[in-house]
This record gives sequence, structure tokens and C-alpha cells, in this order.
Amino acid sequence: MGIAISNLSVKYGAETVISGLSLDIPEGCFFTLLGPSGCGKTTLLRTIAGFAPASGGQIRFGGRDVTELPPHKRAIGMVFQDYALFPDKTVADNVAYGLRARGEKGPGVEQKVKAALERVGLGHLLSRHPAAL
Ligand SMILES: Nc1ncnc2c1ncn2[C@@H]1O[C@H](COP(=O)(O)OP(=O)(O)OP(=O)(O)O)[C@@H](O)[C@H]1O
Ligand SMILES: [Mg+2]
Repeated sequence: MGIAISNLSVKYGAETVISGLSLDIPEGCFFTLLGPSGCGKTTLLRTIAGFAPASGGQIRFGGRDVTELPPHKRAIGMVFQDYALFPDKTVADNVAYGLRARGEKGPGVEQKVKAALERVGLGHLLSRHPAAL
């Protein structure tokens, strides 16, 4: 699923933070944003995920226009600069949260969580709480 951004503008109040940005990110591509502090990197990610509204332009995922969709209807993930972990949940339950919020249940959730954690070398830590990492 590629991401296509065309003529995107984002404002905070009267201040325009992103102005007329167009960008095509092909499916499967590892894409990096690099720029000085305050140039709008986080704002762009928040707008792609739907947490900050676009004031103009269009965002498309694989051809689907998501510009006006709320975050939970975009089927996209975002890792925040602060980790936003639930301190009272284990690593496994933190990772499982998104799946459970979408209504997935049963052993399939545990299998997916274990596979995802093993893939990033964290399989041995799934019972720990964030403060114990
Ligand atoms: N919630 C907000 N309300 C008003 N202005 C904001 C808000 N968030 C960010 N800004 C402003 O928008 C501009 C872009 O900020 P943003 O956080 O997107 O930059 P950044 O490139 O991610 O910076 P950094 O490298 O420090 O993370 C900055 O001028 C910032 O002060
Ligand atoms: Mg940032």
C-alpha cells in the first residue's frame, strides 16, 4: 500500500506548518524524513495517521482517499516519539492492544504478538512490564 500526498497543507491556528507538500512513498519502501527541529516531521506523521487535520490537499493510501477519515478508520500504525505504553500492561498485552481493540480474540492474538516480538528480538521479554525493561 503506497502513500500518496498531494498539495498537503496543515495549520496550527493561524500558523501554516506544512504548505503545499507533495510526496509519493511506494509500497514496501523504507522512507526517512530528515530536517531541522520544528520543520514539521512529526506534524506530517500525525496528519498521515489522522491525528492532525489537513487544511488542504489530499492523502491517499493505495489509491484510497483517507484525508477526511478518523485515525481508527485508516488502518495505519504510528509509533510516537514518547512510547505511549500502558505501564500496567505487560509487553505482550501492550502489543496485543491494537489487535484486541479491533475485536481479535483467542490464541491467534497471542501467536501474532509472539511472532512480532520475536521478529524484533524481544520475544524473551513478553511477560515484563515497561518499567522492568
Ligand atoms: N500542537 C501544536 N500547536 C501549535 N503549534 C505546534 C503544535 N505542534 C507543533 N507545532 C509547531 O509546528 C511546527 C512543526 O513542529 P513539529 O513537531 O512537526 O516539528 P518536527 O520536525 O517534528 O521537530 P522535532 O525534530 O523537534 O521533532 C513547529 O513550529 C512547532 O512549534
Ligand atoms: Mg518531531
